[in-house]
Amino acid sequence: MSVTLSRFAQTLNVETAFTVLAVAKMLKSQGKDVVELEIGDSPFESTKSAKSAGEQAIRDNQSHYCPSPGLPAFRAEAARFVQEEFGIPATADNVVVGPGAKVFQQFFCEAFLNAGDGVLVFSPHFPTFIPNIERRGARPVLTPLTQANDFRPDPRAIEQFLKTDAKPRAIFLNSPHNPTGGVATEEDLKEIADLVRGRDIAVFSDEPYCHMVWKGRHRSLLEQPGMLDQCVAAYTFSKSYSMSGWRLGFCVTSRDIADAIGKMINTTLSCVPPIVQLAGMAALQRDTSERDEVMQRFQAKVERLANGLQQIPGIKTIDPQATFYVFPNVAAICNRIGITSHGLALYLLEGADDKFGVACLGGECFGEAGAGFLRFSCAEPDERIQQAIDFLPVAFAREDRVQAFLSQHPKFKLTQTYPLPR
Ligand SMILES: Cc1ncc(COP(=O)(O)O)c(C=O)c1O
Repeated sequence: MSVTLSRFAQTLNVETAFTVLAVAKMLKSQGKDVVELEIGDSPFESTKSAKSAGEQAIRDNQSHYCPSPGLPAFRAEAARFVQEEFGIPATADNVVVGPGAKVFQQFFCEAFLNAGDGVLVFSPHFPTFIPNIERRGARPVLTPLTQANDFRPDPRAIEQFLKTDAKPRAIFLNSPHNPTGGVATEEDLKEIADLVRGRDIAVFSDEPYCHMVWKGRHRSLLEQPGMLDQCVAAYTFSKSYSMSGWRLGFCVTSRDIADAIGKMINTTLSCVPPIVQLAGMAALQRDTSERDEVMQRFQAKVERLANGLQQIPGIKTIDPQATFYVFPNVAAICNRIGITSHGLALYLLEGADDKFGVACLGGECFGEAGAGFLRFSCAEPDERIQQAIDFLPVAFAREDRVQAFLSQHPKFKLTQTYPLPR
């Protein structure tokens, strides 16, 4: 007799980017030329001091367990960094290190959620928010982000949630936002802080793109008075220092919540490798100018991609504000050729040409609110991004190929047209 998977395991939704990545790699191995704009990874090398400090740490035999919340020196350095860069009143006790930022979604949910609790999530949303909420038997409550509002989180939606939900318990914020590139303004964050301050409401503030704000600087909810006591903010080395494979991030929160999250690290991962923490610490100390140069290169790429897409009839984007993603509305194209947006993404990769493809994601990979959009990342050299832009209108015009793709994959036929952008 085979053993039965839990209901959670049976219905677990994963990040589609990794699935599309696998298809893109498979097609490439068969000789297809694919421009990979599906995964949110940096095309740049990890920064210099991170690499050399990691090598040195191996030579120094920093290869044993260390305290679960992190090396004291790492925690102190991370606190200095958020204090100086984002005005967050943190000390070492407010920091817990983790293998990237993603794991803090799970720990936040374990720290605050019980079965049946309501958790507000602005949607489109990062795909792993929902499984982490559901892991606790809690209840995601989705509220839309709109292109007309530059994909900013609307404080009125929070007000409404707090007033009307049977058991409001937590809020997921993500600014700068993946997939849309939207940014919560300082005023939005102030309003949000005023709404939750002093209430038994916990906020997860996911901030992996804190160095990818293209106008002004990054603002964190933690800057607002009192927010350290009821908010967990997550940061990562994956984007700013091109260290996704090292797996390093940290959270900033009150001392009590940090203690609780430290226990979660203790009972799951034991600790994050000291070698990796020492590499990250060196990046924080010595790689700021290299990081900022790389960020400027990302900005140029995003602008190139957004401007190129905006020229294509039927596509509407917002001006790039943050992140290395562009999230154009393609409803007019989907409606015209009768295909869903994720169908369109897979058609560009698999169906539009035998020799060439573009890998990207349909907006619905980030929740139903993303339907009618595509998400492109900028993780390729500039000339490849240009090739992708040039290919799109050609692919959209190949109606015989669209029909052949749809007859092979009928689940991507559009049954109800998408609303058009204003
Ligand atoms: C919104 C958001 N949260 C979390 C993560 C996870 O990052 P990490 O590599 O630090 O786990 C990502 C990565 O793409 C992201 O976009």
